[in-house]
Amino acid sequence: MRTVHTLAELRAQVTSWRQSGEPIAFVPTMGNLHRGHIHLVERARERAPRAVASIFVNPLQFGPHEDYAGYPQTLGEDSRQLETAGLDLLFAPNVAAVYPRPLEEMTQVMVPGLTTVLCGASRPLHFGGVTTVVTKLFNMVQPDVAMFGEKDWQQLIVIRRMTADLNLPVEIVGAPTVREADGLAMSSRNGYLSAEQRAIAPTLYVTLQATAERWRTGERDYVTLENAAKTRLAAVGFRPDYFEIRHADTLQRPTPEDTTADLRIFAAAWLGRARLIDNLAVATFQERSVN
Ligand code: PAJ
Repeated sequence: MRTVHTLAELRAQVTSWRQSGEPIAFVPTMGNLHRGHIHLVERARERAPRAVASIFVNPLQFGPHEDYAGYPQTLGEDSRQLETAGLDLLFAPNVAAVYPRPLEEMTQVMVPGLTTVLCGASRPLHFGGVTTVVTKLFNMVQPDVAMFGEKDWQQLIVIRRMTADLNLPVEIVGAPTVREADGLAMSSRNGYLSAEQRAIAPTLYVTLQATAERWRTGERDYVTLENAAKTRLAAVGFRPDYFEIRHADTLQRPTPEDTTADLRIFAAAWLGRARLIDNLAVATFQERSVN
């Protein structure tokens, strides 16, 4: 595996692969890698002869009081994992390589609608930062296909919409959420949890499953379902941000008559200083998950 830090080095490598007709699969990350990220790299390797990943903690997608400064940076250990996973090229730029001018002067990419609900409602600047950096990374890496995790479902569909709207020649592939043995979705932010909080954390997924189960047994009063879930989370020590059943593709609220639609439950809740998110398909309650 080769690691490059500058756009010039990246371009030289990518151009030579493109000239020899070798398609490229890309996995953008912010590092502090876990098995969820590595699973994306493994999927990337199945999709194309060349696999590229990026590690870049993107300042543009963090709000002013969020965890940008303390976001875990573990490049050495990340590199070892990527090498073992068979990655060809790691792009690890610094902030100046991605944003050569002050952030507020940089051109941004915005996806309307989908980005104003759920995480976009509580983190108003977040998705503009994500779509801007992903557009830039796509233009830098020039991949044929890019992998994103379903754990960040809203991010996945925002990127799909952006790619379609801007006619970017990149196929977007989603991969199922990788979980710990007790169901907790793997996340770099799980490292913020104390031992006591870590023991409580799986309740988020348990509550998603319980809500899906109640939906499957016929409960259609969404507000009742959502409030019951938030009460359960608060009772064990979470501070719920949102817990909402929505259409999987449009993120619109369902009506009680939407019985066959592709619905998903989305949750975000604080546990200490960690903001955990997770989501689950309602209709296919026994969804695929990778342990
Ligand atoms: P990051 O949080 O590092 O996640 C990188 C990719 O890994 C995303 O596609 C995310 O959905 C996926 N991922 C994280 N946890 C996962 C899990 N438990 N199972 C499966 N996939 C998982 O998401 C970002 O970085 C950034 O917003 C980024 C897209 C890199 C733009 O800066």
